[in-house]
Amino acid sequence: MRSPEAIRLTRLTKVHGREPNHVVALDEVDLVFHRGTFTAVMGPSGSGKTTLLQCAAGLDRPTGGEVRLGDTSLGALSERELTRLRRGRVGFVFQGFNLLSSLTAEQNVALPLRLAGERTDPARLRGLLAGVGLADRARHRPGELSGGQQQRVAIARALATGPEVLFADEPTGALDSRTGRQVLALLRSLVDDRGQTEVMVTHDPVAASFADRVTFLADGRASGHLDAPSARTVAARMTALESAGEVG
Ligand SMILES: Nc1ncnc2c1ncn2[C@@H]1O[C@H](COP(=O)(O)OP(=O)(O)O)[C@@H](O)[C@H]1O
Ligand SMILES: [Mg+2]
Repeated sequence: MRSPEAIRLTRLTKVHGREPNHVVALDEVDLVFHRGTFTAVMGPSGSGKTTLLQCAAGLDRPTGGEVRLGDTSLGALSERELTRLRRGRVGFVFQGFNLLSSLTAEQNVALPLRLAGERTDPARLRGLLAGVGLADRARHRPGELSGGQQQRVAIARALATGPEVLFADEPTGALDSRTGRQVLALLRSLVDDRGQTEVMVTHDPVAASFADRVTFLADGRASGHLDAPSARTVAARMTALESAGEVG
C-alpha cells in the first residue's frame, strides 16, 4: 500500500551562503504533508517558506536532514535522477507565472511533457487546459491573457505530468483579490475532485483559509499548525508570530 504521506521532511536544514555571511534559513524542520490534502505554509517574511518549498520540491538541495517524496529519499538521488523527479513527480507554480512569452498556452503546457519524453497530442493538451477552464485559450500567448488566466496556464503546465505534489509559492501574490480567489478555488477543486496533494506558500490569511491545514514557520523553525483554518484564526496566529519575532 502507498504511504499516506506525500512528503516527509525530517530535521530539514538549509544554510544559505558561507561563513561569515551564512543564513540559517531552515533549522531542523520536521513536517509531513499528507496525500490528497491542501496545506498552506505561512510565516513572517524571511522565515524560510520559499527555501522550504524549494527543498521539498527538489529544486534546491538541503544542507542537512531528509526530504522524502513518497518512498523516495531525495538526498540519495544523483543530479540526473533528481532532474527526472523534478520533471515528472512534482509540479511548481510561481508568483510570477514563469510562462514562456513566445509560446502559446498549449505549447507552454506541452513543455514538461516534451522534457519527460511523453506524448503531446492536441487532445491531451486541450484536456489539461480544459481542466483549468481555458479550453478556448489554447492558441493565446501569455501577453494575450490576464494574470489569472496566465496563472491557470501555469497550473495546467505544473499538472501536465500528473505530479504527486503540486507546490505553489505565493501563487496569488501578483493577482488582484478577485482573480486570486478564482485561482485559489481552482487549487481547492483539484484537491477535492482529483485528490491532488498541494503545498502552497502564502502570506495572505484569506488564501490560507482555502487550505485544509496551515503550517507556520518562524525563523526557520516549524511553529505549529492550524486545521480547518479561517482567515480570522490565521490572521490572529500570524499577528502573534510576528509580534513574538519583534520581541525576540
Ligand atoms: N540564495 C540565498 N542566499 C542567501 N540567503 C538567502 C538565499 N535565499 C534565502 N536567503 C535567506 O534565507 C532566509 C529565508 O528566506 P526565504 O526562504 O526566501 O524566506 P520567505 O520565503 O519566508 O520570505 C532569509 O533570511 C533570506 O534572506
Ligand atoms: Mg518567499
